[in-house]
Amino acid sequence: MTQEKSPSACGIMILAAGLGKRMKSSLPKVLHEIGGRPLIHHVLKRVQEAVPHASVGIVVGYGKDQVEAYLKKEFQDLDLHFVLQDQQLGTGHAARCAMDSPWGETLVQKKAPILVLPGDQPLITTALISQLFQRSYENAAVQLLTCEFQDPTGYGRVLKDSSQNVVGIIEEKDATDAQKQIKEVANSIYLFKSEFLKVSLQKITNHNAQKEYYLTDLVGRAVTENKGVSVLPWAHSEDVKGINDPWELAQVDAILNQRRIKSWALQGVRFVDPGSTRIEADVILAEEVIVHEGVTLKGRTQVGKGSRIGPRCVLEDVILGEQVHFKVGTVAEKSKVESFASVGPYAHLRPDSHVGAHAKIGNFVELKKTQIGEHSSVAHLSYLGDAQVGKNVNIGCGFVTCNYDGRVIHGQRKHKTIIEDDVFLGSDCQTVAPVKVGRGAFIASGSTITEDVEADALAIARSRQVTKPGYAKKLRQK
Ligand code: UD1
Ligand code: MG
Repeated sequence: MTQEKSPSACGIMILAAGLGKRMKSSLPKVLHEIGGRPLIHHVLKRVQEAVPHASVGIVVGYGKDQVEAYLKKEFQDLDLHFVLQDQQLGTGHAARCAMDSPWGETLVQKKAPILVLPGDQPLITTALISQLFQRSYENAAVQLLTCEFQDPTGYGRVLKDSSQNVVGIIEEKDATDAQKQIKEVANSIYLFKSEFLKVSLQKITNHNAQKEYYLTDLVGRAVTENKGVSVLPWAHSEDVKGINDPWELAQVDAILNQRRIKSWALQGVRFVDPGSTRIEADVILAEEVIVHEGVTLKGRTQVGKGSRIGPRCVLEDVILGEQVHFKVGTVAEKSKVESFASVGPYAHLRPDSHVGAHAKIGNFVELKKTQIGEHSSVAHLSYLGDAQVGKNVNIGCGFVTCNYDGRVIHGQRKHKTIIEDDVFLGSDCQTVAPVKVGRGAFIASGSTITEDVEADALAIARSRQVTKPGYAKKLRQK
């Protein structure tokens, strides 16, 4: 990390006031999500890694309350200052609002360099930010990051003279056909001397195709005023890909997802089909995990060593121990599954479920707020809600905990089922909660248990069979 090399006082200005008209959505652009996190989250994370002590000025406008509330909650450790841009009159106007605020004044007084980042380029890297700050000892008033794009449509193009010195930036909408052929673009990433930034922003006009105040105009101004412009060419065009519409959002999301998958793969995770797999930012995977096709891992999911997941499973905030097997089509949220357990195919773990070590949850089983003890088995077609099941319990096919029977008992509408260790429940049983089945009890198939069953008892709760010899034949003859 290069943070020792960055200056003692430094500012980072993040432009995040725009609506993002091209997104065709009322959500502020910087709050649109990739990888399960808003765009601006990714930008601030990289800032936090590269220059944790920076004073960060965030220009907000459209949807400012939403943006502020999110960032204040998520980035309590950063020195954040919110600056209001009332009307979105362009990137230059946004920067001016920041520089005219107390945040900007302080940085000018300290002669701190100011790094400007757009809020809509979430793939920027820590290395990129660090490298720009290392250049803050240079004399140029503007250090400009540029990049070659195969398709530069929509971006500001870098204009150069015959000696290849930068002379300015021209926006797509103001560019001639010849200028539109230029593939080197500006990416709204600059390191400014604060004094130059403050003074020059007061001089720019909106005499252009969009009638906006362009921050890009400062590059041409630094050249004409001989204040110096130096260029940091950036080879990794992916890092500075901007998001202006939902298609770019989808593309950047896919890049981020693949980067993450690659990084886990290099740490020992086997992905059978990376292209159909989605892994969010806070997921943690151990070595020798196998992730099959069509798997989505969300939230704070953690997967222990050697576990297998999929195909087509969705896990959100789920913790798996080691050697767990999550079989095809299984969905789980806010639950925990201990080592050597297996779940699915087509099982559903709803919030607050806990599956003990070596336990088996089979096909078409739904658990809600339920604990299943070690070595217990619920193998087929069952629903357990608000239940506590002990160790070595066998639950036959088609079991239902009737946890809600319309009564309110002690203020509770859902009632608890307790099934103690070593119980055997035959197939097609129900228990009507609140109810307890004592240790080692045996419940006969087809029983509806409405009263507690004591330990080691046999309970049968079904009507006796009546068999009438020859009666079926008689009926047929009628
Ligand atoms: C801008 C640059 C362009 C560059 C491109 C991609 C200008 C004039 N153009 O164009 O050279 O190639 O980014 O990096 O700077 N914003 C505000 N207030 C405003 C307008 C915008 O805060 O009044 C914020 C937006 O929220 C966004 C960022 O500034 O985060 C960039 O704005 P956007 O409208 O996306 O600019 P581009 O047209 O992409
Ligand atoms: Mg943009």
